[in-house]
Amino acid sequence: MSTFSTTTKQSPSLLEKRLQINYLSSSNQPTNQDDGKDIITGLTQIQKRLPPRYFYDDKGSQLFEQICELPEYYPTRTEAWLLQEYASEIAKLTGACELVELGSGSSTKTRLLLDPYQQQGYPLRYVPIDVSGGILEESSRQLLIDYPTLEVQGQVGTYEQAMSQLNPTPLPRRMVSFLGSTLGNFTPQECDRFFSQITALLEEGDYFLLGIDLQKTKEVLEAAYNDAQGVTAEFNQNMLAHLNWRFRGNFELNSFIHKAIYNQSQTQIEMYLYSQKSQNVCLESLNLMIEFEAGEKILTEISRKFNVEQMQQYLQAQGLKSIQAWSDPKHWFALLLCQLHTS
Ligand code: TRP
Repeated sequence: MSTFSTTTKQSPSLLEKRLQINYLSSSNQPTNQDDGKDIITGLTQIQKRLPPRYFYDDKGSQLFEQICELPEYYPTRTEAWLLQEYASEIAKLTGACELVELGSGSSTKTRLLLDPYQQQGYPLRYVPIDVSGGILEESSRQLLIDYPTLEVQGQVGTYEQAMSQLNPTPLPRRMVSFLGSTLGNFTPQECDRFFSQITALLEEGDYFLLGIDLQKTKEVLEAAYNDAQGVTAEFNQNMLAHLNWRFRGNFELNSFIHKAIYNQSQTQIEMYLYSQKSQNVCLESLNLMIEFEAGEKILTEISRKFNVEQMQQYLQAQGLKSIQAWSDPKHWFALLLCQLHTS
């Protein structure tokens, strides 16, 4: 009942007219992944890994929101500052366009983009894409209340599903945004695949807005991923709790310790869980028994750190020509605006 606050001037039914949400087919993940084959593959490699997608159950999503507010975790607030500072320039550069956001989450940063487009008198059309339908619906409704001319066409599903199924836009152009340096969580191969999908989706002249975390000292980076309050540790260990309930596992959470290290030669943060003792773990639903040596580690996530010029060259090679880049005074984070030119 409280979804429509007393500040709204439109009736709920009028709001609903501006809202469309599509649940994309097989948005519950393709079965070949959902049955945990990716866990079996990961845990039977020499360097054991767990797929990052298992971070995000309800508790995991909540812990991630907490990470974004940690004093040591600078990326979220630096990117928000960049948007606050430069979104009106972005809007001037692109003109009217449909905003497509990959991994929209709670759409907190979206407002920073919508505001200048609204101020500059452009029609507001927003296409959030996220695997979590609940958060997407809730945040879309709130945006519709706060932006009375906004139209929302949400897509619940993976990036891949959404990118291959978007409707044509009624606006002159599109801008796809990919924020939070989520690109850094992709391996180079996954990154290539992602861009071939993006460039297939975009039309000549469409825009792509990318938020990337930049290379910096090991101290700053390791502090950001090993916070003093231990929220990141809890987030990392929560993956084991998730696997325990989902696949009838018996991971002892306290016997796996979180540690993130900055691998300087690969310029990436690597998130690990270290087994504190030699032990066996079973995942009954997967018929899987895994042995751990004392001190053995599981890789749960990578977070690559970039360099603006190298990224611009890479984007250029994908057909995405740089329009402009913005960074903060410390050069910790960057926003890159580029445009598709196929010829
Ligand atoms: N995209 C975020 C990043 O690379 C995700 C992230 C932040 C993360 N902290 C984390 C992922 C801790 C796993 C564990 O910064």
